[in-house]
Amino acid sequence: PKERPLAGLSAIVTSGPTHEPIDPVRYIANRSSGRQGHAIAAALRDAGAAVTLVSGPVTLPDPIGVTVRHVETAADMLAAVETSLPADIAVFVAAVADWRVAAESTRKIKKTAEGPPSLALAENPDILATIGHHADRPGLVVGFAAETDDLLANARRKLEKKGADAILANDVSPEGGVMGGAENTIRLVTAEGVEEWPTLAKDAAAERLVEWIATRLGRRAAE
Ligand code: C5P
Repeated sequence: PKERPLAGLSAIVTSGPTHEPIDPVRYIANRSSGRQGHAIAAALRDAGAAVTLVSGPVTLPDPIGVTVRHVETAADMLAAVETSLPADIAVFVAAVADWRVAAESTRKIKKTAEGPPSLALAENPDILATIGHHADRPGLVVGFAAETDDLLANARRKLEKKGADAILANDVSPEGGVMGGAENTIRLVTAEGVEEWPTLAKDAAAERLVEWIATRLGRRAAE
């Protein structure tokens, strides 16, 4: 295999959660450490790609040799991804909040005798689906599906609906310890079928994905 199979190609990766503000001190978020997304950005870099990492708030250091764009909200994340186009490869790993607060308060919401406030929510853009159907769609679009139930059926549905070439289906049942943990058990779902991967450390899973991408793009002779 070539040492830098993705040399000359560009890639966008989303990673981490998004934070959707309620007021200046509170937010809604998804659980995500950013470990898998950051590992994929680093593996793409190691394979020779020019990588833009669009990261929500995480405690991880910026990977070196990668252009990092820090964002807070889903709307910001979509804007940063769109302005990073065109790209040859896009991998959407971020755990984007499905909803934001419809009317963010510019003042801290105070406790009152009337009891807790109700928060009206609005739907966030689906970044993967937007880019999967974009006029400037990268040639290879990959997403994740973190599921606790009906893993493969949900992954297949996402593949179609979001216009992805591959969905990495990941079982996040609490028993598995995937969330925030060091390992993932992935099934790679494409139109052609399902590839079952062994349980791998997140950086090994990232390397395996990059090998798959290189093969798919014809950058690597079949071994
Ligand atoms: O529908 P679901 O959130 O399970 O889909 C997960 C996949 O879609 C992941 O690749 C995630 O990064 C992406 N996604 C996104 N924007 C959203 C929701 C999910 O890019 N608003």
